[in-house]
Amino acid sequence: ANGAMSAAKQLKTNPRELAQKILDHLDLDGIASKVDIAGPGFINITLAEPFLAQQLANTSDNKTEQPQTVVIDYSSPNLAKEMHVGHLRSTIIGDCLARLLEYQGHQVIRQNHMGDWGTQFGMLIAELELQLSHGDQAELALSDLEVFYQQSKKHFDADPDFADTARAYVVKLQSSDANCLKLWQQFINVSVAHNSDIYQQLNVGLTAKHIKPESSYNDQLQWIIDDLSNQQLAIESDGAKVVFLDELADKNGDPSPMIVQKSGGGFLYATTDLAALKYRVDTLKADRVLYFIDARQSLHMKQVFTTGKKANYVPSDVSLEHHAFGTMMGSDGKPFKTRTGGTVKLADLLVEAIERAELLVRE
Ligand code: ARG
Repeated sequence: ANGAMSAAKQLKTNPRELAQKILDHLDLDGIASKVDIAGPGFINITLAEPFLAQQLANTSDNKTEQPQTVVIDYSSPNLAKEMHVGHLRSTIIGDCLARLLEYQGHQVIRQNHMGDWGTQFGMLIAELELQLSHGDQAELALSDLEVFYQQSKKHFDADPDFADTARAYVVKLQSSDANCLKLWQQFINVSVAHNSDIYQQLNVGLTAKHIKPESSYNDQLQWIIDDLSNQQLAIESDGAKVVFLDELADKNGDPSPMIVQKSGGGFLYATTDLAALKYRVDTLKADRVLYFIDARQSLHMKQVFTTGKKANYVPSDVSLEHHAFGTMMGSDGKPFKTRTGGTVKLADLLVEAIERAELLVRE
C-alpha cells in the first residue's frame, strides 16, 4: 500500500512515521501473516495462507450471475524471433486470468495476436530462400530463429542486392505472390511450432485454434482507413493518414497523433489493432476485451481504444482494458539480458528451470 506517502505529503509529515502510526492502529489479525514498512513509506502486507485458502474456498460456490463474453489477448509474440524471457509475463498473467474468468462462469475467448506480418518478413524470407537454395531443409535452417534472424540481418546490412530482394519481397508478400507466400508460410509454421512447445511446457492453454495473427486482418485494413477518413477521424498529414485525438492531448493541449497509414500506403500496428478490435466486438461479441501487454504500449492502447469508441466500432458499454505490467529487470536494474547482451530465450530458461528443480527435488 503506497497511500502513506501521498498522505504524508499533504499532512507535511514524515511518511515512514505516518506509516508506523497506521500500523499501530491496523488490525489484520487472521488476514496478514506479516506487515512491515519498506523504503520511503510503503506498507507491505503479506497475506496469511489460511486466509488466502479460505478466500479461494469461498469462491467455489461463487459463480457469476451475469456471465459475459470476455476476449483475452495474451502472449501474442512476434514470430520473426523466438520467445524471450519477457514473454513470460503476458503469457502467464493472461492465462491465469483466462482460467479464473472461465472458472467464474464467463465465456472466455483466447486470442493469440501473433505478429506474423510486416517489413521484417521480407528480409527473413529472402534469407530462407537463400539457405534453401543451398540445399538446406527449412526445419534445420530455422532450428534456431535467433541465429537465423542475425544471419539475415547481416546479409541485409552487408549486401545491397540482398537488401533489394528483401524489400521487393515485402511488396510481393503484400500482393500475395505465390512463391513469397509459400516461403513465408514455411517460416511461420516453424516459428509457431517453437511457441507451441513452450506453451505445452508451461501448461498454458494456448493452442492453434487461439491463433488469430496480424496477417488475418490484412483484408480489413483498407476498409478501416476508408471508414476513418469518411468519418473525418483520419486526416491527411504529410502524406500519411493520422487520427488526432484531443481526448489524449498533451500538457500543451496538442492532440495525440496515431498514424494509421504511412505515406507510402503501408498500414501499421495500430491499423491492425483497430481491425482486431472491430472483429472482437462484431464477430466474437465481446462484452469485455482484456489486453495483457507491457506498460510501454499504454499510449498505443489508449489511442486504439479511444479511436475504436469514437468510430463506433465499439459500443459504449463494452469494456476495453489494458492490463499493463512492467519490464523484467536483471539484478543490475536494467532490462534482463544475457552476459553478452542478448535476450534470454524462453526455451533455454525453461530447460534450466527444470534442471534446477530436479536438483532440488533430488536433494
Ligand atoms: N506482438 C506484440 C509485441 O510483441 C504484442 C501484441 C499485443 N496485442 C495486441 N493486440 N496489440 O509487442
